[in-house]
Amino acid sequence: MSWSTAPDGTVPARPQLGEVPVYSSALASAVPVRLRASSNEAPDGLSPAVRDAVLDRLERPNRYPVLGGIDLIRALADRLDADPAEIAVADGSLSLLNYLLLSHVAPGARVVIPWRSYEAYPICVLTAGGEPVRVLNRADGGHDVEAMISAVDERTAGLILCSPNNPTGVGLTHQEVAEVLLRVPRQVLVVLDEAYLDFDDRADRPRARELVAAHANLVLLRTFSKAYGLAGLRVGYGLGHPDVITAVRKILPPFPVSALSVAAAIAALDDEAHREAIVARVRAQRSAVLDMLTAAGIPASATHANFVWMPLGPRSAALGALCADAGISTRVFEGEGLRLSLGEPGLVAALAEVLPRFAAS
Ligand SMILES: Cc1ncc(COP(=O)(O)O)c(C=O)c1O
Repeated sequence: MSWSTAPDGTVPARPQLGEVPVYSSALASAVPVRLRASSNEAPDGLSPAVRDAVLDRLERPNRYPVLGGIDLIRALADRLDADPAEIAVADGSLSLLNYLLLSHVAPGARVVIPWRSYEAYPICVLTAGGEPVRVLNRADGGHDVEAMISAVDERTAGLILCSPNNPTGVGLTHQEVAEVLLRVPRQVLVVLDEAYLDFDDRADRPRARELVAAHANLVLLRTFSKAYGLAGLRVGYGLGHPDVITAVRKILPPFPVSALSVAAAIAALDDEAHREAIVARVRAQRSAVLDMLTAAGIPASATHANFVWMPLGPRSAALGALCADAGISTRVFEGEGLRLSLGEPGLVAALAEVLPRFAAS
């Protein structure tokens, strides 16, 4: 038997990985970051209740967590008035998306994704062996729902929706998601990524629980990384039909979330006041920043998330550089726009210095 190796003698990786970019978010700057506005995190995460729960569990690191994160699943089921069979948990909603694609997308099958959207989507689809089909957003940064529906064909196994969308912040309406579910075939898995749900205060935002009850091919993805302030502990969950959840649980590792993270997430679910404080701070900053942008004549999309998107095209890098010089890290999408995460205390005052300079340049 002869073994094949890559040309340079290294172990050959799966050929499909050749076209997969490595996820990156770093923005280099000579000035140290004073205000972190590049990763859509919550500025402060640790509530006393979460600290106590984690420290308590830390006493028993020698013991495995409960199998399948079922203690967290039960707490979520209680909270969401759902059956535990409808919920799966993992180390972040992004992991869960990977597992869902592995459980439902056969090699070579297509997955329709909005674009621009969360940059991990095409990577997840490719690493699962599928083919991402990008559908460009409308000019206002919202998903082009009609075009996404039209992109579905007999080779399509999945379709991803993101509401509010990262990085534009524009949310889908209930009617738009309902329309997708009515018109795409029932064998297409529809994933509604609601990472930024808590910051969305629109009356017509998707009533996703209602849609899950009516459509067995819909799965919601939610996370403790944003409004719960637990990004570093990595906890997310999916809610969908028990058949879909059973399939994804076959792929999940037996202990998909660490014991410390489970303890933190359960305590965070009970600590409504802490989550509400994070959300209130973000919403207040969001309207202050949008007002400042309007005053400075800088375009911004209608965001309902914990970040603001400025579609500045070729001028995006210049604003990113001015922010970096002021110690504010942002996320620049070269030639497209700049995303600024909200919530850091002092951000509004710092922007009050930077934005007029940019507007005058
Ligand atoms: C739309 C979207 N989905 C999922 C995630 C990842 O969330 P998690 O930390 O739960 O993996 C992010 C993170 O930025 C995101 O923007």
